[in-house]
Amino acid sequence: MNARAADLRAKGADVFAFGVGEPDFDPPALVLEAARQALSAGPPGVSKYTPVTGIPALKQAICARTQAVRGWLPRPSQVTVSIGAKHALFNIALALYEPGDEVIVPSPYWVSYPEQVKLCGAEPVIVTTEEADGFKMKPDAFAKALSPRTKAVVLCTPSNPTGSAYTGPELSALLEVWKTSDAWLIVDEIYADLVYDGFKHVSAATLASDALDRLIVIDGVSKTYAMTGWRIGWSLTPDRLAKALDTVQGQSTTNATAIAQHAAIAALTGPQETVEAMRVAFEKRRRVMVEGLRSLPGVTCRMPEGAFYAFADCRSLYTATSGVEYKGKPITNDEDVAFFLLDQAHVAAVPGGAFGAPGYVRFSYATSEERIREGIASIKRVLEAARA
Ligand SMILES: Cc1ncc(COP(=O)(O)O)c(C=O)c1O
Repeated sequence: MNARAADLRAKGADVFAFGVGEPDFDPPALVLEAARQALSAGPPGVSKYTPVTGIPALKQAICARTQAVRGWLPRPSQVTVSIGAKHALFNIALALYEPGDEVIVPSPYWVSYPEQVKLCGAEPVIVTTEEADGFKMKPDAFAKALSPRTKAVVLCTPSNPTGSAYTGPELSALLEVWKTSDAWLIVDEIYADLVYDGFKHVSAATLASDALDRLIVIDGVSKTYAMTGWRIGWSLTPDRLAKALDTVQGQSTTNATAIAQHAAIAALTGPQETVEAMRVAFEKRRRVMVEGLRSLPGVTCRMPEGAFYAFADCRSLYTATSGVEYKGKPITNDEDVAFFLLDQAHVAAVPGGAFGAPGYVRFSYATSEERIREGIASIKRVLEAARA
């Protein structure tokens, strides 16, 4: 999809970037300033290795911010700073999974969860969730998926790709099931600062103080501070796992880039107004995107609680139901829909099959309200023309 979109752009097409997985905002100015200052302070500041799992001041800042926004206080010894949240998750996979292990992953899932499990020779156990249930795993489905081989369970709240987020009671019900097992629970909270309509994100750690010895939290600056390219993410784990992560990371990448760690300290300890401004902008865009998608004949879309994705059921656009054909061929799946939208409407979006949810398409609203309106209008036009 990216290659086709790039090709179209190269040919002069104005492609609507509804496929992106990163905020279109800039990081807070003070982050850039902190990086400049760290540079001008000169060596050894940002030119030498740092401790493998992060600069102490960054670990302190992570703990303090976790307490401020997630409601619990980890110890610095529990923090492993990695090269983005993806790296944090991968280190955990390497430290924990081995052939024979099962890892429960509810679908729709972020693409890397099952792939990382497979890379370690373990087996992802996919629990399919339904739109009618808000794309949230039900406790009984979770209980059924658990086995003596379950090494871990991965939850993402708010979710990429659906934007769904678990309420406190929903999470508590899942935790009750989890506590009947010996498995680790991994909760990816990378989107937790981006929630809307007064939704309150509840961190699993605040509900599971009696089981913190098996709980892993993933977080980072990528989404909250629009710092995807800086590559700073982290895990919060029990000390015994943090020690293993130190070994894994110490034998692969060593520390995350020093200057990026300094920038992350500034993001976490500085004024937080830009986070709220970005959240408010996403909240408005979410409504424009979801209402726009719902205005397309037959398309349904749940109003997501968080992140910056709308996950639309596009099965009504298949040829059998819509009569729309593309290049003389019937449209029969979400990939056909996505390529049709890209080629005809110049709207780049991601087919749901990639997230284990065929029939759906993920539309990112990390772009301006105006672009969202124009992109939706473009889809409407090509649908009308195709049906005419
Ligand atoms: C659910 C989820 N977790 C983790 C990541 C990875 O974040 P990072 O860019 O910090 O590696 C992403 C990025 O898209 C994501 O969507």
